[in-house]
Amino acid sequence: MSNFLKSSVGRKSVMAVTGLLLFGFVIIHMIGNLQLFLGQDALNDYAKHLVEMPLLLWPARVVLLAILVTHIFVSMSLAKENRVARPVRYTQGATIQASYASRTMVMSGIIIFLFIVYHLLHFTFGKIQPQFYDQLDAEGRKDVYGMIVYGFQNIYVSGAYVTAMAVLCFHLSHGLQSLFQSLGLRSNALAPLLKKMAVGLSLFIFIGNTSIPLSILLGFVRMPGVGR
Ligand code: HEM
Repeated sequence: MSNFLKSSVGRKSVMAVTGLLLFGFVIIHMIGNLQLFLGQDALNDYAKHLVEMPLLLWPARVVLLAILVTHIFVSMSLAKENRVARPVRYTQGATIQASYASRTMVMSGIIIFLFIVYHLLHFTFGKIQPQFYDQLDAEGRKDVYGMIVYGFQNIYVSGAYVTAMAVLCFHLSHGLQSLFQSLGLRSNALAPLLKKMAVGLSLFIFIGNTSIPLSILLGFVRMPGVGR
């Protein structure tokens, strides 16, 4: 196992598998969040059911954190190795392209990490916009719908989310392609199809996630009974 992790092929496989699992989380999380469009009752009910399953929720949170930490640490070790191995710039186009992609992956990865910290402080710990955090709805449930709607009515908060989603889209469109290569599943014949799939899925995530702050900012989604 330790030899596997020492080899760069082994570490790239770890990046691919952890990346795929994180991608799975992003999809499931987005589908859950899109219930905002079904209304306050549907979203708050979904959130209530999630917290009522602590035996499932807490292990899932621990596993998710372990996957994220592994993805970040292994990426740091690969990036460091790349720098040490290539102190002098190559003049060949392909190599420059490859190192450009991996450099921007590190940059976009750092921005996504900062977004996650901001996002957890915002919605999970209630440290940003705390006035919307501990509210209850008419049924006495935590008002997750109100927290999101009031929160995204602030153009700076929405702007930060939309920007982060654009960076996530970029990171995924490259990451989803390279993970197939890392797992040895990418052939020249398959490459164009994989590229289309990666770009399509990344745009799907971008549109799904940004539809939430944008619909709120544009007034399509509001608090029940407000402004109609
Ligand atoms: C507009 C897009 C998004 C919305 C509206 C949203 C909403 C939320 C909300 C309401 C929570 C707190 C759930 C609760 O504790 O009641 C949450 C937690 C979380 N979100 Fe998001 N989220 C969005 C995008 C993302 C993205 C893109 C990522 C990852 C890159 C992400 C990662 C997380 C994580 C890791 C948690 C903590 C999960 C937990 O406490 O178990 N979110 N999100």
